[in-house]
Order: sequence, then structure tokens, then C-alpha cells
Amino acid sequence: MEENRIKRRIVLVPVSAQGHVTPMMQLGKALHLKGFSITVFLTQYNRVSSSKDFSDFHFLIPQSLTESDLKNLGAVEFLMKLNQICESGFKQCLSQLLQEQGDDIACVVYDEYMFFSQDAAMEFQLPSVVFSTTSATAFVCRSVLAKVNAESFLIDMKDPETQDKVFPGLHPLRYKDLPISAFGPLESVIKLYSKAVNIRTASAVIINSASYLESSSLAWLQRELQVPVYPIGPLHIAASAPCSSLLEEDRSCIEWLDKQKPSSVVYISLGSLALMEIKDMLEMAWGLSNSNQPFLWVIRPGSIPGSEWTETLPEEFSKLISERGYIVKWAPQIEVLRHPAVGGFWSHCGWNSTLESIAEGVPMICKPFTGDQRVNARYIDSVWRIGVLLQGEMEKETVERAVKMLIVDEGVDMRKRANELKEKLEASVRSGGSSCSSLEHFINSL
Ligand code: UDX
Repeated sequence: MEENRIKRRIVLVPVSAQGHVTPMMQLGKALHLKGFSITVFLTQYNRVSSSKDFSDFHFLIPQSLTESDLKNLGAVEFLMKLNQICESGFKQCLSQLLQEQGDDIACVVYDEYMFFSQDAAMEFQLPSVVFSTTSATAFVCRSVLAKVNAESFLIDMKDPETQDKVFPGLHPLRYKDLPISAFGPLESVIKLYSKAVNIRTASAVIINSASYLESSSLAWLQRELQVPVYPIGPLHIAASAPCSSLLEEDRSCIEWLDKQKPSSVVYISLGSLALMEIKDMLEMAWGLSNSNQPFLWVIRPGSIPGSEWTETLPEEFSKLISERGYIVKWAPQIEVLRHPAVGGFWSHCGWNSTLESIAEGVPMICKPFTGDQRVNARYIDSVWRIGVLLQGEMEKETVERAVKMLIVDEGVDMRKRANELKEKLEASVRSGGSSCSSLEHFINSL
């Protein structure tokens, strides 16, 4: 059995964005550890494909794709276009792989948003498997939204009273928590979702989550999708892959953290895509400074519109930061969250950041921007009760209150609950745990 596996190859198709590449590479690592050869189809050369950490992996990068094809597009158009232009290149790569290496390909595992892979795999009679890099609950939301009537839904969404109501069947998510905003016009978002969740010929769905975190959403998916659903996460603890960061990590922040008191620092990171207006950054800086807590802030180059990095920020900002803060362009996030000085995580609630924070038992301040981040924020705040949700305009008083609440007032209880979740997650990826068994079942199914 084990010998058989060693010869088999799995082809992975990630979306080339940090929040999607990272879990896909972790999945690759988990499958490689089980004896599979791994090939990754990437749409561009980047730090991951040139990294010696992944020297056991084989990378396919089609010549025909140029980044200019994908410039200046909104998220929905970008993904639609990506699917259009990748299909033929992917088919060529698969055909070459089968001819040149005479490989026994066990399956193609594709990011839910790289749905062109399904037809390509079918053409070569290969099984295809969907990998959802977001939560099971966000997948449920996309499945439900794919079927709504865009016109009447839009009318509901415009009514402020409806926005606060729970969406039928999705308790405790309200209309305003649904993953729709800022992606583009509603019709096109719904069209994208209906493509992404339409698993016509896929033979299974893998989710980077654990049964303990989202049992009812996972049960919903299992019932509705009619193919096996495998929750095998959190992958970053199940198979801690070498660094797949697309940006250079600044490790000087670890030395700075070493000098801070235990559980005192607020770590702030808004992931790899979110943008922030200068006025909101100033309110944040004021609030953080007034809270009297030290803070480590990741300001990603390009995350302030119209600015390369922080050069357009007023002098007042630097003054507020210099009092008790430290700024980096990109941090070794998991190591930061694991550091004893970190008392809380101010996050945009991307799914990877959410899992990483829970896995280190760190409570959160949630300031979601778009898409699935609102779903995750609602769960952090009202289901797992390990965070404070910031709503409405960014104001320094609210920021100060939230930081104090997280680190001082309610921090102990939230941290206790976060630590309980951390233990459950660790148990789920250990031998005999739910995620570990789920991965075994998936592999045995191939
Ligand atoms: C995107 C979407 O925005 C998110 O909602 C979805 O769930 C996944 O795809 P992103 O916004 O980048 O992802 O957020 P997130 O999922 O949290 O992923 C960010 C990753 O970058 C994390 O793994 C985090 O550890 C890493 N990171 C972030 C760093 O390594 N250093 C940093 O300084 C900041």
C-alpha cells in the first residue's frame, strides 16, 4: 500500500495570492509526508516556486500567461479572467506531465476559485478534488448565495433594518455578515460563487478547518454537496510547511517583542490584500497610543492607497507610533502570535489569520474588510467568543476601548476560551484526532 503511494502524484492548483498559496502548500506538505509526489501549477514565478524549501516539489508555470493580462481588475473579474486564460495552459501542462513522466496522477486538487481545473481534469480522466481555503461556514454562505435571486436580495440588503437581521438558515450570521461586499456588483459575485461551488464532477471537497470548530456547517456541506467532505485542518499545525511567504519577513520584530512584558502587546496585521485610508490609520494610532499598550503593526507596502509605504502619513502618526509601537512591512506571523509578549491580535479576520490566532490561543480584535472576513469575525465574536468585533467608522475612542477590553478587562476570559480551542485543535491533528483521521480517509479514497 505504502509503496503504491510513493509512485503517485498529486497536482495542486492554487490561486497565486498569499491567503490561498499558504494553505495549498501546507496541504502539499501533508500529502508529500504521506508519500505522494507533488506538482504545483502556478500562474507566475514567485518566492514559493524559487524557494529551496520546496525543492521536493515540481512546479508547472505556463509560458503563455503574462501578468499584464490580469492587471487593474477587480477581484471578481480577476478570478473570472484567471480561469479563462489558465485553462489551455493547464491542459498542456497536464498532457506533458502524463506523456513525459508517464505519471500515475492520483488526482488534481484545485483551489475552489480555480474552477477551470475541473474540466481539464475530466478531459484527462483524472479525479478532481476541491480545496476550500476559507472556513466551512463561508463555503456554506457561498453555496446559499449562489442560489439567491440577486434582484430581491439586493433590495433586502439596502434596507438598514434587514442588515441586522439573521439570514434565514445561517444563524448567527446576519445579512451584513454575508461574504458579498466590495467584491464587485452583486450579480457578478453571485455568478462567481455559482461557478466556485458548482462541483459537478469533483469527487470530494477538502476544507482547512476542524470538525470541532464548525460542526454544523460541515454537516450542512456533507448533506448538500453529496460528495465526501474532509475537514483536515488547521493545516499549519497538521503539516507545518516551510515558509511560503510571498513577501520578505522582517524578523527584527521578534527582538522588539523579547523586550515587552508578557501578554501586553497588540499585534496588528490586515493580511495580504486589505487597503487602509490614512484617516483610519490615524484614528487607530491615536486609539492605540491612548490605550497605553505596546503594539506591533504590520503596514504592508502598497496597503495605503496612493503611497508606496508610510511616506504619505503625517508626522503626527510617526510620533504616536514612536511612543510605544513598532512597525514592520511583513512579519513572521505565526512566530509573533506564539510569542509570550503578544496579548491580542487586531486582525482583518482572513481565515488563515483566524486559524493561526486560535491555534496560539490569542484573542482578537476583529475589523473585517470584505468577503469571508465578516463571516469569520462574527464567529470569533459570537460563536467562539474569543474576540471583540469593531463595527462602524474607525474612531480613536472605540479603538482605545477595544484594546483595553481585549488586553485588560475581558482578556483573561477570552484568552481562557481561546486556549481551550487551541487544545482541541491540537488534539484534532494528532494521531486519532478528527482532522488526522479525515486526511487518512481522503488518502485511502484515492
Ligand atoms: C485572503 C482573504 O482576504 C481572506 O479573507 C481569505 O480567508 C483567504 O484569502 P488574506 O487577506 O491574505 O487572504 O488573509 P489571511 O487568510 O489571514 O492570510 C494571510 C497570511 O499571511 C497568513 O497565513 C499570515 O500568517 C500571513 N502573514 C500576514 C504573514 O506571514 N506576515 C504578515 O505580516 C501578515
